Amino acid sequence: MIGKLNHVAIAVSDLDAGVAVYRDILGAKVSAPLELPEHGVVTVFVELPNTKIELPQPLGEDSPIARFLEKNPGGGVHHVCYEVEDIETAAKQMKASGARVLGKTRIGAHNKPVLFLHPKDFCGTLVELEQA
Ligand code: CO
Repeated sequence: MIGKLNHVAIAVSDLDAGVAVYRDILGAKVSAPLELPEHGVVTVFVELPNTKIELPQPLGEDSPIARFLEKNPGGGVHHVCYEVEDIETAAKQMKASGARVLGKTRIGAHNKPVLFLHPKDFCGTLVELEQA
């Protein structure tokens, strides 16, 4: 059911330092920072030929990324995002299979509907589904 890998998100506590790693050391193209208050992050996307790397940094008081960084102070892989054709169909299929869907469908960084799936049901990794 899932399609392409849309992006891998690597949480960072210092976005400028993360951008410098990907732009200056690894030589990748990095987007301008994007503030997503609804998701509690400011983020950039590193554009690779076959996928993207997201670098979310906490934004605001109640950021889910802040809690992740408390446990992983040096940063780390936060989630993987797979594309699906239809987000509501995917949500129904996930629930029918007994997987936990976290919260409601929201509009993500690419102005497309996204939802998150519980890491305990997906090999220990937080999964984001994005309607392609
Ligand atoms: Co993401």
